Amino acid sequence: KQKSYSLTSPLPADLLSTNRSSIFSGHHGQLTLTSVFLDEYRDRLFLGGKDVLYSLMLGPTSTESKELYWPPLPGNRENCIQTGKDPQTDCANFVRLLQPYNRTHLLACGTGAFQPMCAFVYVGHRGEHVFTIDPVNVENGRGKVPHDPSFRFASTFRGGELYTGLTADFLGRDSVIFRSMGGRSTMRTETDQKLLHDPKFIAAHVIPDNDDRDDDKVYFFFTEKASEPGDREGAIHTRVGRVCANDVGGQRVLVNKWSTFIKARLVCSVPGPHGIDTHFNQLEDVFLLRTKDERNPDVYAIFSTISNVFQGFAVCVYRMADIREAFNGPFAHKEGPDYQWGAYEGRVPYPRPGVCPSKITNQPGREFGSTKDFPDSVLQFARSHPLMWRPVFPALRRPVLVQANIPHKLQQIVVDRVEAEDGHYDVMFIGTNVGTVLKVITIQNGNSLETEEVTLEELHVFKQAIYVGSPAGVAQVKLHRCETYGKACAECCLARDPYCAWDGFTCAQYTPNNKRRYRRQGIRHGNPALQCVDQNLSDVDVTEDDVVYGTENNSTFLECVPRSPQASVSWLVQRDDRKEEVKLDDRVMATEQGLLFRHLLHEDEGVYICRSREHGFSQTLVRLSLQVLQGDAVDELMSRDNAGFSDSIKERSAGSYRAWMPCTAYRSGTSSHSRLWFKDIVQMIGPSNLPHVEEYCERMWCNDKLRRKHKSMLEKYRQAQESARKARSKSSGERNRMPRDLKARDV
Ligand SMILES: *[C@@H]1O[C@H](CO)[C@@H](O)[C@H](O)[C@H]1NC(C)=O
Ligand SMILES: *[C@@H]1O[C@H](CO)[C@@H](O)[C@H](O)[C@H]1NC(C)=O
Ligand SMILES: *[C@@H]1O[C@H](CO)[C@@H](O)[C@H](O)[C@H]1NC(C)=O
Ligand SMILES: *[C@@H]1O[C@H](CO)[C@@H](O)[C@H](O)[C@H]1NC(C)=O
Ligand SMILES: *[C@@H]1O[C@H](CO)[C@@H](O)[C@H](O)[C@H]1NC(C)=O
Repeated sequence: KQKSYSLTSPLPADLLSTNRSSIFSGHHGQLTLTSVFLDEYRDRLFLGGKDVLYSLMLGPTSTESKELYWPPLPGNRENCIQTGKDPQTDCANFVRLLQPYNRTHLLACGTGAFQPMCAFVYVGHRGEHVFTIDPVNVENGRGKVPHDPSFRFASTFRGGELYTGLTADFLGRDSVIFRSMGGRSTMRTETDQKLLHDPKFIAAHVIPDNDDRDDDKVYFFFTEKASEPGDREGAIHTRVGRVCANDVGGQRVLVNKWSTFIKARLVCSVPGPHGIDTHFNQLEDVFLLRTKDERNPDVYAIFSTISNVFQGFAVCVYRMADIREAFNGPFAHKEGPDYQWGAYEGRVPYPRPGVCPSKITNQPGREFGSTKDFPDSVLQFARSHPLMWRPVFPALRRPVLVQANIPHKLQQIVVDRVEAEDGHYDVMFIGTNVGTVLKVITIQNGNSLETEEVTLEELHVFKQAIYVGSPAGVAQVKLHRCETYGKACAECCLARDPYCAWDGFTCAQYTPNNKRRYRRQGIRHGNPALQCVDQNLSDVDVTEDDVVYGTENNSTFLECVPRSPQASVSWLVQRDDRKEEVKLDDRVMATEQGLLFRHLLHEDEGVYICRSREHGFSQTLVRLSLQVLQGDAVDELMSRDNAGFSDSIKERSAGSYRAWMPCTAYRSGTSSHSRLWFKDIVQMIGPSNLPHVEEYCERMWCNDKLRRKHKSMLEKYRQAQESARKARSKSSGERNRMPRDLKARDV
């Protein structure tokens, strides 16, 4: 479950200065982090930086680190400076690639002051903490990492061979897909804008097609300048391209060049007004969510679009079946420069370009042992038709997440799949350029096309589990912080975090037992009162409204911030048992933090109720009794300095923005406000909405064991209530009618 990735911006200083997280900043303070490899087998974290490599042994209590100094080869730094490059940001060995090589060694490659170089790092076996490099025995790193430390590139390792997509020359013009190392001769793409047009490589992955290793394909995710019609000059498109792992090029043409390279467009768009879709064309990051079926991982991708009117980010998910279908479909074709693009309708030579020579693809009597046996006509066709006609659309044809006009950029994504009986929840961790990590799930509603997204929390940096890197350092981030979801059972439920469950006392990490995993669906007879019956609900009616004082003609503020970022807030005011919506105008304004009275009038007095609404659930967050004081009354109160009374009034009156009244606080009269919070949920949603909450809670974290426990507690509770009722009125006419239709008052 642990994945690593790096952000490109510094961690916020406050995180580095607190004890809340475990942060590694290198042995000399500033770690210029440029690569990360989390070795789950060895429980080690390997980091590459500027002229340096680190190995961190991840123990349960402490982290032991070792450092290796790895500068450019002698003379290269000076040469680099002489060519006019920056000594600080260019002319050092920035380690860009860290890959497991064999059982004892890692492959490390760095920019070597614009002279890329690679070396094998001895890391030993599992359990031992060794870390050495032979600084003399280095290999040329050309084609393995870019010369320029700021250029993006993609790489993947398979069978001792390294596949890379990058610019492989000093000037940064030679954009290629390379295969190097291992025993075979080096392969590359031809220099041709049809194949790659100013590409920016984002990710590379080996994905098998079937059990025949000869059919394994290497996929590249990148952006390039668009060549298709209907796009303005310089438009960028995102592509998925692939080559066969057993491609060895042609015999007479395409010697040592890819003969199986094909590519298709990845579309990520949302329908807009007037039938014009908003396209997210710029690929930012890709995460391959591997499943048991190694042939069919889900491809998660972050896209951006930046225009004068709109700046947005989207996450789209692609299925391998859809990607393969595009590659099996027609080739894009253009008769000549003045013709339109269309689907190629002529005869496609055999073997079809993009197909690997293998047992499965061979037809009897027409067998090809290697791409060198391919007829010239196949190679010519492959060379002139690299692009597929049909694009690849995301699952459900729409993004799973869209964020528009936000103050930060979404840059990195990792996804954790939490399995459940009724399917799974994919929890996305999205790194932003301001050093935060968003944790988001999407919930699909039945079979409909609609998905709803829930931002669980915006993580800053905390402990364990996901490793967040930035140039300043590396931090561990816990996958969940269940304890922050409040202290009530219902809060835990409504937090909807698949990692969390109510354990009877707190909202805690859910650890599935081996036999039975979470039950989230299928049980329709629970309800939150059932789920949360171990809350002491007998005193829920004891509530007093907190009193807020304001002064006439002055401003005052009623604070109310919803717990969840998705909730919408409304204000009601109650006077003489009549509830109505608060009329908003220039004088009374709803802000994100609460209700602002710029000029308080006597008739504003009343009980103000702040309600949040989200996914059909309403709840009261705050009930405040606003009392308007005359000027002289205030003076009198202020001048009284006996008792805490006047302090509390000072604090609360006259435009105070102090957070003395957070949403959950019901301080007066009760010790536990969480109970009241729960009561409010039940009260506000009313009996008719209970099934929704029920269903919801069931789906979220109701396992059988917990349910049985709750059931027996509910039984006891019923009995207690029943005997109390009997004791009160000796009449027994009313039998056990406990409650599908629990009413708040009854609770
Ligand atoms: C941070 O942790 C260290 C070591 O555990 C401790 O000595 C120090 O007092 C802590 N600082 C704060 C602000 O809690
Ligand atoms: C791993 O590769 C390195 C570098 O080629 C080599 O020296 C070492 O012997 C290899 N180790 C094993 C276990 O194959
Ligand atoms: C529940 O509340 C009642 C009334 O306030 C109290 O008598 C009882 O001890 C409480 N039970 C628990 C388990 O807290
Ligand atoms: C509030 O303002 C009104 C009109 O501006 C004035 O008549 C009234 O006396 C003021 N009240 C106080 C308490 O200052
Ligand atoms: C109005 O509120 C401000 C800020 O709290 C305070 O300084 C001022 O004295 C108040 N005016 C009156 C008339 O109460």
